[in-house]
Amino acid sequence: MSNRYWPMFDIQLSTPELELRHLTEADLASLSNVIPDDAEQNPSSTTYAGLDARQNRGAVVHQDYWRARGSWRPESWALSFGVFRDGDLLGYQGLEGDDFVKLRTVDSSSFLAAPVRGRGWGKQMRAAVLALAFGPLGARFAITSAWSDNHASLGASRRLGYVDNGITVQQRDGQAGEMVHLRLSRETWMASG
Ligand SMILES: CC(C)(COP(=O)(O)OP(=O)(O)OC[C@H]1O[C@@H](n2cnc3c(N)ncnc32)[C@H](O)[C@@H]1OP(=O)(O)O)[C@@H](O)C(=O)NCCC(=O)NCCS
Repeated sequence: MSNRYWPMFDIQLSTPELELRHLTEADLASLSNVIPDDAEQNPSSTTYAGLDARQNRGAVVHQDYWRARGSWRPESWALSFGVFRDGDLLGYQGLEGDDFVKLRTVDSSSFLAAPVRGRGWGKQMRAAVLALAFGPLGARFAITSAWSDNHASLGASRRLGYVDNGITVQQRDGQAGEMVHLRLSRETWMASG
């Protein structure tokens, strides 16, 4: 273990084609360069008048990262992985457990740079964190949500065994949008091999 005080920095996951390692502050500028325009950020994030759209998104990347580390507790935690191939940072895979000790449920979020999509890597990186969640962390359920027209995200989830868990109507760019919720049980994950 190289990080005596924050051992989460040592977590590394491998898939057949990707490496996931926990992000550190040194990765945040690269992640800010990579985040695609269609990766949603919290709509209530601060917007800085002096920054252009890309700089603002990068600032939110930094703030989200710091917030997740600063509020980390064993009961409610968030892990933030960079997705690498041959040393290049291609995307992000998050995994979080809110009130995890009681609920044993994890949620996830992710993005890949547009040029490297459609190769099954979105599925691989999600499978990596699911293996962590259902393996050593002992999760019972994994949940995820995406807008009804986000076919790649919903496709990756469904291919991994998630099933429909309801739809909610939420505000989307000032309109009503349909958010599709999906859930994967430990039993289904284990049976999938
Ligand atoms: C979500 C994201 C990470 C998925 O990565 P990806 O590389 O596009 O997806 P994959 O190639 O791993 O595809 C996963 C599965 O979904 C299927 N899929 C992908 N696009 C699809 C589409 N438009 N319609 C139906 N199925 C689709 C694929 O066929 C694949 O299944 P298979 O391997 O069995 O063929 C990526 O699209 C992304 O970064 N999107 C923008 C950010 C985002 O929306 N994040 C999620 C927010 S909830």
